[in-house]
Amino acid sequence: MKNKVTKAIFPVAGMGTRFLPATKAIPKEILTLVDRPLIQYAIDEARAAGIKEFIFVTSRGKSALEDYFDHAPELEHSLRKKGKDELLEVLKTTNMDSGAIAYIRQHKALGLGHAVWCARRLVGNEPFAVILPDDVIAAETPCLAQMTEAFAETGGNIVAAMEVPRDRARAYGILDVKEDMGSVVSVRGMVEKPETGTEPSNLAVIGRYILTPKIMQNLNRMKSGAGGEIQLTDAIEQEVRNGGEVFGYRFRGQRFDCGSKAGFLQATVAFGLSRPDLRDEFGAYLTGLTQQQQAAE
Ligand code: UTP
Repeated sequence: MKNKVTKAIFPVAGMGTRFLPATKAIPKEILTLVDRPLIQYAIDEARAAGIKEFIFVTSRGKSALEDYFDHAPELEHSLRKKGKDELLEVLKTTNMDSGAIAYIRQHKALGLGHAVWCARRLVGNEPFAVILPDDVIAAETPCLAQMTEAFAETGGNIVAAMEVPRDRARAYGILDVKEDMGSVVSVRGMVEKPETGTEPSNLAVIGRYILTPKIMQNLNRMKSGAGGEIQLTDAIEQEVRNGGEVFGYRFRGQRFDCGSKAGFLQATVAFGLSRPDLRDEFGAYLTGLTQQQQAAE
């Protein structure tokens, strides 16, 4: 296939301050949505898109992530002895083939762009995906698989985009759309957190990207030039200015911002209700709660 993507970067070096005190001792990506940590959703999505190499950009205090993807021989042995085959199957999804997973340290939290740049040698001269695990997306076809399919057709750089209410645009990076072709839009620029009323569209960038090696080159220059936070959106915007192609992709699915408490709670409800083993009991509880609230009003 033309324009194949086999490597994905998972930037997980942020401090997760919005989830303190929990994140004092555990990485945000290990926080659990129903019964799986956020990182498992990200890995499953990457696998479904044909990703073969998983590159984690980590920081101090993230060793629980490395342990999570390791084999657990004692646990497996004990489950096998007790005939708990279903649980063994569940555990298998956390195992990674030797050499398929790599960890790179970002020594200072200098921004998402810097975190991605830290993985440059592992990415080499190939297109690569970036997945932010705190954006969890419920979708029939996983979001990254939708994007890799689009990328096979268009090439260039693709960012996942979703429509947001105009008065919420200031919380996002917003696309300046050159041409709207339906699920794909071509982009002439991006504005990070625009003042309300100045946003160039209602299409917000969220945490899934397919990028060309040129983005790493742009980040290279930003590294040597500027101090402080290095933004990934700046390097993508630079690519537009250099005449490179950047597309927004309107994915089909629902995105939850699990980096925020409200988003995490919403995701917990949505994923809880979508699980056959929980749906009835949890749904009945929520219905009861709503009825109680209505009666009190
Ligand atoms: P966030 O803006 O959500 O920051 O980063 P954070 O530190 O994770 O969380 P808060 O805001 O303090 O609660 C978005 C993504 O970029 C990664 C984060 O790990 C997260 O996946 N990131 C951010 C890095 O890897 N390095 C950085 O220097 C900054």
